[in-house]
Amino acid sequence: MWKVRGFKHMPDAVDKSTASGAQADLEVATLEHYPRLAHQQMLQVNARQKDFYESRCAATLAGQVAERAANTPTGVWSWTREKLVDMRKAAGLDEYLEELHRGWMHDLKDAHVLDLGCFTGNPLSLWIAENCASYTGIDLSEQATAVLDAKLRELGLTHAHAYAQDFLANSYADNHFDLVYAHSVLHHFKDIKVLLEELHRVLKPGGIVISFDPLMTEPLNWLARTFYRPLQTDRDWEWPFTRATLRLLQQYFEIVDMQGLMGMSRLGIPLQMVPGLSNLGRAVMHFGAKFDKKYAQHRASVFPLLAGYPALT
Ligand SMILES: C[S@@+](CC[C@H](N)C(=O)[O-])C[C@H]1O[C@@H](n2cnc3c(N)ncnc32)[C@H](O)[C@@H]1O
Repeated sequence: MWKVRGFKHMPDAVDKSTASGAQADLEVATLEHYPRLAHQQMLQVNARQKDFYESRCAATLAGQVAERAANTPTGVWSWTREKLVDMRKAAGLDEYLEELHRGWMHDLKDAHVLDLGCFTGNPLSLWIAENCASYTGIDLSEQATAVLDAKLRELGLTHAHAYAQDFLANSYADNHFDLVYAHSVLHHFKDIKVLLEELHRVLKPGGIVISFDPLMTEPLNWLARTFYRPLQTDRDWEWPFTRATLRLLQQYFEIVDMQGLMGMSRLGIPLQMVPGLSNLGRAVMHFGAKFDKKYAQHRASVFPLLAGYPALT
C-alpha cells in the first residue's frame, strides 16, 4: 500500500510552449499519440469490466460468492479470496490496515476526496464521507454505486455522492481533489502511465493518493497470476504492481510512505486450509501478523518476500 504526494510540476511533461517548428510538433504528437491509444483501449476493456462488476454486485446483493459473469476458474479464485479475506480479518490485519490509512489521511475537514473504485463502499468510505469537505465515490458498476449512494443518503450527507463513472472518462477539472483513495483499484489499469497522468491531472499540487494493491513481486502471487490468471474471465483488467510500476510512480509522485501487509502471516494460510490444522494455521497467522506489523513497515519493495501482499483481488 502506498501514500504518495503529487509533485508540483510533472518532471517529464512535454513543454509545448517551448516546442517550435514541424519537428517539435511531430515529437509532441508522437508522444501524445501513444497514451491516447492506450487510453482508448483501456476504456474499451472497461466496458467489459463494468459488466463483470455489475454481475458481481448482483451476486453480492443476493448473498452469493461467485459472479454470474465468471467462469469456473474465476469462481474458484473468488471463493479462495473470500476465505483469505476472512483469515486476514481474523488475524486483525484489516483493522490494522484501516487504522494505518486513517492515520495517513490526517485531518480531512477541508479535503475534497475521490474514492476511486468504491464499489458498494470500502471499509473507510463512510468514515471519509462523514469527515471530509466533499466526497465523490465512483465505480464502473451502477448497481454498486447506487447501494453506496443510498447509504450516504441515509446518513444525510449532502456533500457526499456516489455514482457510476469511468475514471478515465475525463470528467473532472484539473487540480480538483486533495485526496484520491483507491482501495484495491490502481492495479486495474493496464497502462499505469495513463493512470498516473490522470491522477496527477485531477489532484491539486501536493495532493495525496492512498492506495492498496497486490504486488507481482510476491512469489505466490506471481505464480498464480502467471499460470492461473490467464484462465479467468477477468484476466484483462488486473495488473499487480511490479518494480517497473514503482519506478514510474516515482516519476509522478513522491512516495511519502509505503507498507506491506502480509509477509510472515501468510504462512498460516495453507495450514488453515488443511483439515485438522486450522488452529495451528490461525496461531501462525496471528504471530506472523505481529511480526509483519513490526518489520514490514516501509519495506514493501525492499523485502517483498516479507512484505508482499498476496491479494487475490
Ligand atoms: C477489486 S475491486 C475493489 C472494490 C473496492 N474498492 C474494494 O476494495 O472492495 C476494483 C473496483 O475498481 C473499479 N474500477 C476499475 N477500473 C475503474 C475505472 N476506470 N473507473 C472507476 N472504477 C474502476 C471496479 O468497478 C471495481 O469495483
